[in-house]
Amino acid sequence: MANLLELTRQGDPGTIVDESQLDKIQLQNPQQLYELWERQHWSAHAIDLSRDVDDWLAVPDDEREYMLWSLSSFFIGEERVTTQFSGLVMAYEDQSEEAYLTTQQVDEARHTQFFARYYDTVFKIGGGIDAQLERVREHVNDAFVKLFDEALVDANKRLIADPSDRDAKIDFVTTYMMVIEGTLALTGQHTITRSLEERGIMPGFVEGFRHIATDEHRHVAYGTWYLQQAVRRDRSAAERIQAKLAELLPVAAEVLVPPGHSLDEEWELFGFTRSDVHGFAFQALSRRLKVIGLGVPQLV
Ligand SMILES: [Fe+2]
Ligand SMILES: [Fe+2]
Repeated sequence: MANLLELTRQGDPGTIVDESQLDKIQLQNPQQLYELWERQHWSAHAIDLSRDVDDWLAVPDDEREYMLWSLSSFFIGEERVTTQFSGLVMAYEDQSEEAYLTTQQVDEARHTQFFARYYDTVFKIGGGIDAQLERVREHVNDAFVKLFDEALVDANKRLIADPSDRDAKIDFVTTYMMVIEGTLALTGQHTITRSLEERGIMPGFVEGFRHIATDEHRHVAYGTWYLQQAVRRDRSAAERIQAKLAELLPVAAEVLVPPGHSLDEEWELFGFTRSDVHGFAFQALSRRLKVIGLGVPQLV
């Protein structure tokens, strides 16, 4: 039974590039990811939410609190990753990358729209997106604020100040695609979707969240591709990525802690134990690092 930090400490550490892996794996490039985006369109406003309204009323009160904590982190997170993305769009290096990056920004806006519509229609929390976000902020923890309002915002500001700064781009992609999307978002999407599907409730949410997860896989694929290229271009990028991960993983681990619990405690949520959740997050990250050619970071 271990949390994300313990798993990382037990993992295969290394700031050294694994040369044997580095040139082996061919990832989809931005042009291919752009074309995939065209084939994977969906509409946040077309999903039928009528059954979800009744299902939500039948969810017990104690579960509602956890569900609102979890989904509110996603709602605010989607808004943050939409508005804090402009620096990366400015940092494109060729036309295919520019085309792909603009699709990701509109994806994140679509995800925010889905949550706004869901909160309005099902949770009866309305008043427009700005008012909704202000209200649901009560659910997020301090680590969330540190990651989304400080680390992500700072990384974006550095890129906007100088879009040609490759170090700033590596830091941003590591923060955004490896930690926020690749470690946290994919884990939350997996556990929440599985739990709701098994119980056969809130089918509109499951449908929307499945589309969001498909988009997120494309986003993480871009980040993995970018960092793999960065390390191939300059081996010193590996240490930069590892340093950013070592700085942010302790924060990410805390983001996953449900209200009323601590990182070291055991808990169960939506039918998943702490070990399930942290184990999935660790796997999701370490698998992608391996593709980039890196081991897990050495934590102090
Ligand atoms: Fe998203
Ligand atoms: Fe995303």
